Amino acid sequence: MMKVKFAKRIACSLALIPAFFVLTCAQAQFPGMSQPRHHPWSDKSLSPDARADLVIQELTLDEKIQLLHGLGWQTLFMPQDSGPATRAISTLGFIPGVPRLDIPDLQMTDSVEGVSGAGTKGRYATALPSAEAMAAAWDPALSYEIGTVLGHEMRAMGFNMSLGSGVNMIREPRNGRTFEYKGEDPLLAGTLAGQELKAEKALHIITDVKHYAVNDQDAGRIVVNSIISKRAMRESDLLAFQIALKDSGAGAVMCSYNRINGIYACENPYTLTDVLKHDFDFKGFVISDWGGTQSTVKAAMAGLDVEMPGNDSFGAPLKKAVEAGEVPLERLNDMVHRVLRTEFDAGIVDDPPQPESPNVMHGFEVAQKTEERGAVLLKNVGNLLPLSAASIKSIAVIGGHADVGVMSGGGSSQVSPAGGNAVPPPPELLKNPFTSFFEVAVYQRSAPLKVIEEKAPHAVVQFDPGTDPASAAALAKKSQVAIVFAVQHASEAMDLKSLSLPDNQDALIEAVATANPHTIVVLETGGAVLMPWLDKVDGVLESWYPGIRGSQAIANLLFGDVNPSGKLPLTFPKSEADLPRPLHTGPPTADADHPVPKLVGAPGLIGMAMGIGPFFDVHYDEGLKVGYKWYDAEQKPVLFPFGFGLSYTNYAYSGLSVKPGDSTTVTFTVKNTGKIAGSEIAQIYASLPDSAGEPPKRLVGFARVELKPGESKQLSIPVSRDRLTIYDEATESWKLVPGAYVLRVGGSSQNLPLQQPISF
Ligand code: BGC
Repeated sequence: MMKVKFAKRIACSLALIPAFFVLTCAQAQFPGMSQPRHHPWSDKSLSPDARADLVIQELTLDEKIQLLHGLGWQTLFMPQDSGPATRAISTLGFIPGVPRLDIPDLQMTDSVEGVSGAGTKGRYATALPSAEAMAAAWDPALSYEIGTVLGHEMRAMGFNMSLGSGVNMIREPRNGRTFEYKGEDPLLAGTLAGQELKAEKALHIITDVKHYAVNDQDAGRIVVNSIISKRAMRESDLLAFQIALKDSGAGAVMCSYNRINGIYACENPYTLTDVLKHDFDFKGFVISDWGGTQSTVKAAMAGLDVEMPGNDSFGAPLKKAVEAGEVPLERLNDMVHRVLRTEFDAGIVDDPPQPESPNVMHGFEVAQKTEERGAVLLKNVGNLLPLSAASIKSIAVIGGHADVGVMSGGGSSQVSPAGGNAVPPPPELLKNPFTSFFEVAVYQRSAPLKVIEEKAPHAVVQFDPGTDPASAAALAKKSQVAIVFAVQHASEAMDLKSLSLPDNQDALIEAVATANPHTIVVLETGGAVLMPWLDKVDGVLESWYPGIRGSQAIANLLFGDVNPSGKLPLTFPKSEADLPRPLHTGPPTADADHPVPKLVGAPGLIGMAMGIGPFFDVHYDEGLKVGYKWYDAEQKPVLFPFGFGLSYTNYAYSGLSVKPGDSTTVTFTVKNTGKIAGSEIAQIYASLPDSAGEPPKRLVGFARVELKPGESKQLSIPVSRDRLTIYDEATESWKLVPGAYVLRVGGSSQNLPLQQPISF
C-alpha cells in the first residue's frame, strides 16, 4: 500500500504519465493568497526595484534564503500534509512566498508547447504544435498569439511563472529536444521566443528563457562539457537569448545542466555575470535547471540566483555561507532583489492569477492555425497536392497510428493528452515511471484518418497500420493515392539514435511508393530526418508534432483549404556524414579511467534521467557555422535548405533597393504569380566582408506577407546595425567590419534572386 502511495506521489510530482494524473492526482485546490493588506511596497507608482528594496528591509535571513530555492527533492516524493507544500500546484515547480508580507508563492509550469504542468492539477491544457512547428511559421504575430493562449491557460490554473521558451541552437540535430527549440538561427529563434514571452508577460506571468547555454544535446546533459569559442557563442547561441530577452523583458533565465568550457552553466561567471547580467543588462533572476546546481558559494558568486527544485545548495548551505561571509550579504540581497523586482515587474503581486475555465475553443483555433502555418510542404511532384476532394476515388492511409492520433514530444514539455494517450503504451514500459516519462510516445487524440474521411466523402478511405510493408503496399496498389504517416518519437533526456526514421518506416515508405508512385509522406518528427525514399514519392509534408488540432490542419493542407506557407527553421541534411559531428558524442562507458562523478544536483534515480555518466567533452569546432552556415561554408549539398518550403502558388521577387545607415532599410517587392492566395516568407541574408571571417551569409531579416492571386506588395524591412556586426574576442566588443557587404533577398537560404552590394 505504502509502495503504491509512494509511486503515485512520484508520478504526480513529476507529471509522469499524463493519463494517470488526470485520474489519480489530487484535484489541487486553487491556492490563492488571502486578501492583500497595504504595505509600503503596495504603492504601484514606485519602480519594481524600489518596491523590492522595501520588501527586503522587512525580510529575515531565513525568509530571504527561502525565496531562493525549491522545496527539496524529499518534498517532491513524500506526501506533505502540512506546510507550504500543501499550497503547491506542483511541488516540482514551487517556491513558497512570504505570506506575512503578502509576497506570493511562485507556481511554475513548463510551457514550451502547452501548459504541461496542468497534468499535475488534472486540468485541461491546449496541446500546441511543437516549438519547431511554431518556428516554421516564421510569424512573430502568431508567436504573440501563442503566448496569449499559454498565459491565459497558466493563469486559469493558478500558475504565475512559465518555464519556456527554449532557444538553444540546433548544433546537434539528433538532440532529443530539437522539437522544443526554435531552429538553427538566433534571429529567428530569439524573435519568436521574444514575442511569445512578451504576450505572457502582458498577462502578468513571469517568463523564462532556457536552457542557458550551449545545452545542445541531451545525452549526458549533466556530464557533458560544451567546448566553444566566445565569438561563436556570442554570435549564435547567446545571441538568441539576447534577442528574446530584449524583445520580451522576460524575468528569468534558466541555466542549463552542462558545463561550458569546463565550468558548469549554473556556476559560470562568464555566461551568467559578464554576459547576461552585465552585457545584456538582465535585471531578472537566474534559475537553475532542475537539479543543475552543483555548488553554493561558487554558483552564488558566479550569478546563479535560484536553485530548483531542491535546496541542497541554496538552502541551509547558503545560509551558512552568508553567515560565514563567503557569500556577502550584498550578494544575497541582490539575489533576493532580482526575484522580488521580477515579481513586481511582471505584475504577479498586483494581479495574481484567478481561477477560470480554459477557453478550449480559442486554444484549438490557435493550435490549428499554428500547424497550418508551420507545416512545411517539402515536395509536390506534378502538383499531386492539393488533393481534389470532389474527384478523388480512393485513398490509402498508412502508418503512424493515423487512425487514432498524432505524435507529440516527450519529457517536461509533454502536454497531458485530453482523454489519455491515444496509443496506450505496453504495460512493461509503464513499470518504471522514470523511464516511461521519457520513453512513452504520447499521441494526442486528433485522428488524421477521420478527418481525411470527412474531407473526401466520395472516396473509399482505408487504413493500414503500416507494421507489415507488404500489406500496406497491397492497399496502396489498389488506391489512387497513398498517404503514409511516418513518426519519430523524441524526448527530453534521450537523443535520437540517428536521423533515420525508426521502426522500419523507411522500408514501409519504399514499399508503398513502389506499389503506388502517388505516395505522399506526412512526417511527424521532432526535427530533420533522412529520406532515402525521397525520389520515389510524389509528396512530402513535414508536420512536426502537430498538436491537438493536428489532423484538421494536415487535412486542410493536403486538400488545399489552406495553402502551405511554412518554411524550414533548420536544415535537412542529406546524410549524417555531412554533419559537423558525423558521430553523435555521448558519455563514455564507465570504467576505472572514466568514473561516474558524484554530483550535488540530480540525486539518485533522477540522475539517471539527467544522463549521468563519466564526464566528456563535445567540441563545437564548427563555431559560427551553425546549421545552414555550416553547409554553405563547407559547400555540402543538403536535402532541404534552411528557409525552404513550397506553396500551391508561386512568388516572384523584384525591385531591391538598400539604404544603408544606422538601421539599413531593405526594400523589395513580392508578387504572387499564381492562381490562389498564399503567404510568402521573405528572407534577407547578409554576406559580410571577407575580412570578417564569417560564414557565407546570415539571416538578418524576414517577413511574412499575405498575397492574393496576382497581388504585389512592396516591403521595407529595417536591418539594425546589430545584425551586421561581429563579436571581436580581442576587445570583447561588437564591431562593424568596414568593407563590402552583399544583401540577398528571396524565399529560402538557397533561393535568393535579389542581391545588392553595399559598403560600410
Ligand atoms: C528540464 C527543464 C524543465 C524542468 C522542469 C528539466 O528536466 O530540463 O526544461 O523546465 O525540468 O520541468
